[in-house]
Amino acid sequence: MCGIIGYIGPREASDLIYGGLKRLEYRGYDSSGIAVLNGNEIAVERAVGKLGNMDAKMDGLRAIFKARQISGVQTGIGHTRWATHGGVTEENAHPHLNSEGSIAVIQNGIIENFVEIKHDLQAEGVAFKSETDTEVVPHMVDAYMRGGQSFEQAAFTTLKQLRGSNAIVMMNMREPGKLIAARLGNAGGISIGINSDETFIASDVPGILEHTRNIVFLEDGEVALVSVGKIEVRKLDGTPVRKPVHAIAWDPVSAEKGEYRHFMQKEIFEQARALTDTVRGRVNFETGQVVLDGFDSWRPSKIYSVACGTSKNSALVGKFYLESIARIPVEVDYGSEFRYRDPLIEPGHAILGITQSGETADTLAAMHEGQQKGARVWSIVNAVGSQAERSSDVTISMRTGPEIGVCSTKTFVASIVDQYLLACYLAQQSGDDKLAARARALALELAHLPGLVSQVLEANPIYDELANKFHDREHFLFLGRGMNYPIALEGALKLKEVSYIHAEGYPAGEMKHGPIALIDETMPVVCVAVKDSVYDKMISQVEQVRARGGTVIAIATQGDTFIRTKADYVIEIPPAPEFLIPVLVTIPMQRLSYHMAVRLGCDVDQPRNLAKSVTVE
Ligand code: M6R
Repeated sequence: MCGIIGYIGPREASDLIYGGLKRLEYRGYDSSGIAVLNGNEIAVERAVGKLGNMDAKMDGLRAIFKARQISGVQTGIGHTRWATHGGVTEENAHPHLNSEGSIAVIQNGIIENFVEIKHDLQAEGVAFKSETDTEVVPHMVDAYMRGGQSFEQAAFTTLKQLRGSNAIVMMNMREPGKLIAARLGNAGGISIGINSDETFIASDVPGILEHTRNIVFLEDGEVALVSVGKIEVRKLDGTPVRKPVHAIAWDPVSAEKGEYRHFMQKEIFEQARALTDTVRGRVNFETGQVVLDGFDSWRPSKIYSVACGTSKNSALVGKFYLESIARIPVEVDYGSEFRYRDPLIEPGHAILGITQSGETADTLAAMHEGQQKGARVWSIVNAVGSQAERSSDVTISMRTGPEIGVCSTKTFVASIVDQYLLACYLAQQSGDDKLAARARALALELAHLPGLVSQVLEANPIYDELANKFHDREHFLFLGRGMNYPIALEGALKLKEVSYIHAEGYPAGEMKHGPIALIDETMPVVCVAVKDSVYDKMISQVEQVRARGGTVIAIATQGDTFIRTKADYVIEIPPAPEFLIPVLVTIPMQRLSYHMAVRLGCDVDQPRNLAKSVTVE
């Protein structure tokens, strides 16, 4: 959950940047760094651990301002890093520089193609000082500038070549008073604040809100050329973009909501970033090796996953991963039911509690039941320090940041990916070379996930149209097969929670055993009909719905023209590895529910009768 702060203006830059990073501290990080322009050099300080460890190094940066008695413009950037590529070391902390030290770059996200770029640069003689993906950026910009391009041209040429989802800020020693900031995908935001004589950049509005309330938000694929009191925004192809300046109210809730109307909407759009944070530091993207803090080589003979609501749906997806990737049998139970069936738990079994709040009474009781019967207790939790974490032997932290909307969105996808990581980890520890090799290959695929999620978030197809057309329906059916059956359950749960429309999720093959009786021309049926191993079977279910007059809204794979001849509406997701498809399919489900709820005027963030933590049985 890295933080970014940038500043151009008359004030001493390093303290201002430090203050901004401090305000973003709650998002979590493991190292930090600040770079300020000092005449003909860039002065950089970095430290591992808490920001306080920068304190001793700040005097040098402050001295730059004093020594030069500058009344002109100060330029600087700062970053708090949560390791993805490379360990937690000072060398790996941002900002990163080119060999000459004239270009400094900070980045949030994952550069998916950094390995290829790094090899090319190394072949041209570039020496790298860190293990990070980010360091390729200053070297690329440098190479293009040496080839005759201006800083601006070199930045655009470089940005166009990066694959993945990133927020990036660059500074050039030879152009004081200028920063270039870019948002590629949704792995991190870029907010730019302006006053008449100074400009601020932040990954998150609270980092700069004490200085300005006038904020411009970059969208995916936009690059800002930032100077004193001025922002020029262009698309990657150079087309100028007119950006509205948002006046942000001075209260923590509006600040946290930023450009979004509701927290649910914000949290849906934060998912690329949440998934970047989920995998960061846990996968070595050169080898595919997974590292999970606190886990050792112990292998349970069986896992009982216990959870409620959305987290239970996540556990059902996780069962596919743990059984297929790690080859460990899994039973999934409602937290509220587990202890009433006298489960056959033995030492050698693990109980895996999945809970975003970490305080759900039913899930805690199920975990306790497992512990009493001798199981090792594992958990996947978002709320740090919660009861679930305290009562577990080991916890995988979801790392999504606070989820404020009552309805779970980003914690759902994060907990799915945490189970994917756990499955890969267990396979790699299994001692079975074939399992381990497959798990390494699967772990490497996670590098593409934030980018794929960004693509689904960027597409804005027909949610308004669907909400206008179907908001007055009383019932919805959601169908999926295999790994996408739990996603159908989640789609139905989301819709009922936020829009109060009755919805059922069903395994598609079960429809003919009962629910088919419900289908008539008033019934919209959301079918997950993506190109996976059960595609053909899904198509026959789609036919069965159509034959009975139902309206089919298909979630399908980009480029599938056949589905368009079968469904009434199609929402596309990009082609993806089969195990990652459930994450992508989730997003249209969430967005559909959100648009329906907004159309119906429902209280999206606090739906009636629901609570964020259900601490009663
Ligand atoms: O905090 P938990 O993940 O344990 O919460 C479990 C359920 O209460 C929760 O998922 C609930 O279903 C949400 N309202 C879903 O949006």
